[in-house]
Amino acid sequence: MPSSKASQAKSLNALTPAYDSILELAPYQTGKPVEELTREYGVFDVVKLASNENPMGCSPKVTLAITEQLGELARYPDGNGYYLKQALSDFTNISIDCITLGNGSNDLLDILARSFVGSKDAIVYSQYGFVVYSMLAKMQGATGIEVPAQRFGHDLKAMRQAVADNANTKIVFIANPNNPTGTLLQSAELYDFVASVPSSVLVVLDEAYIEYSPESNNRALLDEFDNVVIVRTFSKAYGLAGLRVGYALSSPAVADLLNRIRQPFNVSRVGLAAAAAALADQSFISEVRQTNAGQMRWLEKQFDALGLAFIKSSANFIMVQIEEAAVINQALLEQGVIVRPLIGYGLEDWLRVTVGVAEENTRLIDTLKSILNAE
Ligand SMILES: Cc1ncc(COP(=O)(O)O)c(C=O)c1O
Repeated sequence: MPSSKASQAKSLNALTPAYDSILELAPYQTGKPVEELTREYGVFDVVKLASNENPMGCSPKVTLAITEQLGELARYPDGNGYYLKQALSDFTNISIDCITLGNGSNDLLDILARSFVGSKDAIVYSQYGFVVYSMLAKMQGATGIEVPAQRFGHDLKAMRQAVADNANTKIVFIANPNNPTGTLLQSAELYDFVASVPSSVLVVLDEAYIEYSPESNNRALLDEFDNVVIVRTFSKAYGLAGLRVGYALSSPAVADLLNRIRQPFNVSRVGLAAAAAALADQSFISEVRQTNAGQMRWLEKQFDALGLAFIKSSANFIMVQIEEAAVINQALLEQGVIVRPLIGYGLEDWLRVTVGVAEENTRLIDTLKSILNAE
């Protein structure tokens, strides 16, 4: 999390970064890898519920698509990702020239910031919004404007005011559902928000978890507003986090700009083929959604029984309130269960838990019970 001070940065001697704010950045904190826990604590039977990955893996159809590429690895991928874009165009009912592919959706968030935000500009995002937005402001030497959250979610009225108060705002980032809180905005609220901000402000809807809330559909915004971008990923419900594929939907003019900024081969040959196969298997996504919903209900019941408060989530993770979260997190790690502490978000009393499959969730709850009882 970006909490380190400039004084903690290594000395660059005579060198200086492009912006002082880069020195305030701390590397993005990823969920602890399983191998690291095994190395550190000697635990082998590890359950990782820390990075909102899909515990069911990916569609079996992806394996064949990947295998077909293995003889072609000496060749660069299609730099335009034609077949994946064609499939996405059919899937989202948008013209192919409105699509930009990314090395994960994080790549697209980065490309968006680099394309539109200079050091005199501002980026608006919510308190408890996905941490990468504030990092992007620092990377661009721009002003990051964090708007206080409302019941852990986006306060769109306050965000609209922040845009009105800061004429240099270039991008508003909105994660829907939001990570780490799992909150979801109603489409009507989002429509009103987009309609109320100047057309010179890009509204980026980060829909990394949208497959888990199919009732939310904001795709129509793109038909009406040229300043809306929707960013999605194959890392979550599609189960391809290890391959790094994401996409952005926008006006053709914005896509044209993003495609100039992105690296020529930013999605690998294997990634392109795997994503197209994953997209074609929507019955797998339905199964994932159903399993997640059932397991989410089960976890909610367990938290209720343990007297732990949680935030109702529209994604594949849930935030649970727990006293001395850092101590509990450490005890969970020592017993081979990886969840995500949220200190970097200023949520010291909360842990974020990815919804696993039944066996993993049972292990989490059993371990949690034993820790809480032992206290
Ligand atoms: C809200 C949100 N957006 C974007 C991302 C980036 O994911 P990826 O780069 O794997 O697509 C994440 C990952 O955790 C996320 O939670």
